[in-house]
Amino acid sequence: MKLAVVGSGYVGLVAGLCFAELGHDVTIVDNDPEKISLLQQGQLPIHEEFLAELLTCKRDAGKVKFTASIAEALEDCCVIFVAVGTPPKENGEADLSFIEEVVRTIAQHALGYVVIVEKSTVPVLTHAWIRKIMALNGAAHDSFDVVSNPEFLREGTAVLDFLYPDRIVIGADTERSANLVSEIYLPLTSGEYHSRKTALPAPNSAIVPSNLIVTSAKSAELIKHASNAFLATKISFINAVASICESVGADVQEVCKGMGADARIGSRFLNPGIGYGGSCFPKDLTAFRSVAHESGYEFALLDQVISINEQQRARFLRKIRQALWNLKNKRLAVLGLAFKGGTDDIRESPALEIVKSLVEEGAVVTAFDPAAMERTKAELGDSINYVDSAYAACEEADALLILTDWAEFAQLDLKRLKEMLRYPIIVDGRNLYDPAAMKDAGIQYYSVGRPAVVQSSKTLKATAAKTTT
Ligand code: UGA
Repeated sequence: MKLAVVGSGYVGLVAGLCFAELGHDVTIVDNDPEKISLLQQGQLPIHEEFLAELLTCKRDAGKVKFTASIAEALEDCCVIFVAVGTPPKENGEADLSFIEEVVRTIAQHALGYVVIVEKSTVPVLTHAWIRKIMALNGAAHDSFDVVSNPEFLREGTAVLDFLYPDRIVIGADTERSANLVSEIYLPLTSGEYHSRKTALPAPNSAIVPSNLIVTSAKSAELIKHASNAFLATKISFINAVASICESVGADVQEVCKGMGADARIGSRFLNPGIGYGGSCFPKDLTAFRSVAHESGYEFALLDQVISINEQQRARFLRKIRQALWNLKNKRLAVLGLAFKGGTDDIRESPALEIVKSLVEEGAVVTAFDPAAMERTKAELGDSINYVDSAYAACEEADALLILTDWAEFAQLDLKRLKEMLRYPIIVDGRNLYDPAAMKDAGIQYYSVGRPAVVQSSKTLKATAAKTTT
């Protein structure tokens, strides 16, 4: 099929290139001419596994083209996915002005029947607003449909999440539009794509063929907000349990194991840490909170989820102070700046927020992140030092802080770390290490929701003697 995607951010670009991978002819539209010219030259504005290969291959095969003009995209297609930004406003609501602008342009340039598909995360009833804007701009009632097709991909695994989704949700209020959008996903829902020799590799947990759920437009809009809010709730819940564990000396990882073994709860998204971040959860939680309020329901649970998430950072800062007392002039090695491992994204990164607080308290921070250094430099400038390896960060540091769950940070040589650090102190915000291994390595280890590993004064004395000689 011929289709268009407006917006070449994470969701739009991944969806557009994956639609081309499924066999469709895709036009990707963005109003940023620089982005369009970059993409036309075969370069990507974001880092995501398999995306570069997809871009090269689909561009060469003429399956994808890029333009700044919605009118041009509408010339030969009747399904247009809208994946433009919905940033938060001051009051927490989602700012839908970019969506409105796109819809107005569609109304002005559509040549025949068109299906407008909401791909960005939007509040419930946005589809009704889109209908109103189309009508206000002269579109006849039966010349268009609005469908909600929320996207559930995660940064870092975006392409495989798209091609091997847990579910595809299509929220449509007419049979015609439900059928059209379902047809786009047919290669996934029939399993045809997955049986191709050229298909990208399936992750272990892949559901094949993909599961299709058809609902009303408003239910689909709610599915997306409710899913993100539920996942965030799961994280805040376990973080709250971690705080109780710290008070009573229990081990939250043991609690997670016991809870996660219940199939109704499941162990995924039950990892305690310094709280959730990123461009989606914080924004979607406040937006969903506003939507609930507007609809007449006070979703106070979400206030608690947000508040626990904020407290988690403050608790972690207290933990660092408990390990080091004053932070002024302390030299701190920081591993991780991205909001999670596997991405260079620092938007709403809890790691970055913690680093900012440390700098405010007068600490001297030396940081390393495998992917997010450039973006951090652009935001924090020279208020911190940057090095090119985890070990380089530890040189002469008073303590090491682990803030992002990069796989490589879980495999460090503890003996080497201990030799490099001025004091053998590690404060781990992601529980990447077994406390027993830290005990054996002679390191004082503070993590989340687990008893601290405190070394005997004899061990510390030996380290201190080594440091002074
Ligand atoms: C999230 C959702 O997982 C996707 O399904 C959704 O499509 C996307 O938002 C979106 O709305 O566009 P993403 O923001 O890429 O995806 O990141 P996640 O992997 O969900 O992680 C979010 C945050 O939660 C990270 O800061 C992560 O470190 C934290 N987290 C995650 C925990 O603290 N504990 C966990 O157990 C899991």
